Amino acid sequence: MIQHSFDVNTNPNNAVSDASLRHAREVSKKIRAAIAADPGDFRMLTGDRPTGNLHIGHYFGSLRNRVELQRAGVDSWVLIADYQVITDRDSAGPIRERTYSLLTDYLSVGLDPQKTTFFAHSQLPELNELMLPFLSLVTDAELRRNPTVKAELDATHGRPMSALLLTYPVHQAADILFCKANIVPVGKDQLPHLEQARVIADRFESRYGHGSLPAPIFRRPQALLSEAETVLGLDGNKMSKSRGNTIELRMDADETAKLIRRAVTDSQRFITYDPQNRPEVANLLLLTALATGGKPEEIAEEIGNGGAGMLKSMLTEALNEHLAPIRERRRQLQDNRDYLDTVLKAGIAKAREQAQETLREVHRALDIVF
Ligand code: TRP
Repeated sequence: MIQHSFDVNTNPNNAVSDASLRHAREVSKKIRAAIAADPGDFRMLTGDRPTGNLHIGHYFGSLRNRVELQRAGVDSWVLIADYQVITDRDSAGPIRERTYSLLTDYLSVGLDPQKTTFFAHSQLPELNELMLPFLSLVTDAELRRNPTVKAELDATHGRPMSALLLTYPVHQAADILFCKANIVPVGKDQLPHLEQARVIADRFESRYGHGSLPAPIFRRPQALLSEAETVLGLDGNKMSKSRGNTIELRMDADETAKLIRRAVTDSQRFITYDPQNRPEVANLLLLTALATGGKPEEIAEEIGNGGAGMLKSMLTEALNEHLAPIRERRRQLQDNRDYLDTVLKAGIAKAREQAQETLREVHRALDIVF
């Protein structure tokens, strides 16, 4: 059971344990089946920090999945985690511009403001107010053991831990619990956050509701793990903007071609799909497959003796073709600040209503209504 994954952290590299990962995968599978049967039972919340432009790793790994859930009829909420940007860095950067860029990326890939609620969590005072009672429900030892906190701390290279970094899982729990989402599509690194959110919901209702609430206030959120395989960067390392090994959605076809031309392959001419022994070539094949809807093995067979040159030109063509309509929408949207503002303000207003309602319920349970 993942229930106790916080109590014993025997994992030296802060990773989520195999058992909790296996459990989360099983839960995800059941949720997918339940969505197919009745999407109306679900509210999805997910989000990103506005730290840069979204790239094809985000697109194939999570954005496509969100569009799919929206299309299936799931009530979708997407949060721009602007406050969270200052958890592990000294300054927020051009956060306002990045927020608009993120929203532009979301809309370009097909998230529809008629069906998806977009909001920046800084703009919901009631959401942030929930953090105060929630903080009474967790111990500092529990937070210090939290694998996501440890991973974030490691990434700061010796910067002392701020109280915000230590408590950010509680803030994220407020994100998730305020809007009564029951599914949260995330990567496996975020599993501890969901566990923490469920624990907070349980403790709140048993401690402050004295077990006698007329109805539960919070829903218990479950992770929906993506089934997509992780794509690597063009050099075979983890894809990240800082490594310069990725293709951002906002880039044009020429930039894309140039980056793929420089992609790392290996010295074997004959192309085979062998992720174990030829990770770089396999990754380029996987990307081609994701862009065309084909199978990496079959693409490898087709290329065969054509070598890395042919593989790269196939990938360039496939990716540019797949991204063309997204990029076109992006170009139209990015100059339309008024429209972006309208979308964001409407999302914030709707999310705020929900946050106010949840906070009222919380105040009633705490008996602080005057
Ligand atoms: N922590 C997430 C990230 O770093 C962003 C995030 C903040 C989030 N609040 C959330 C994701 C709530 C899902 C649900 O990417």
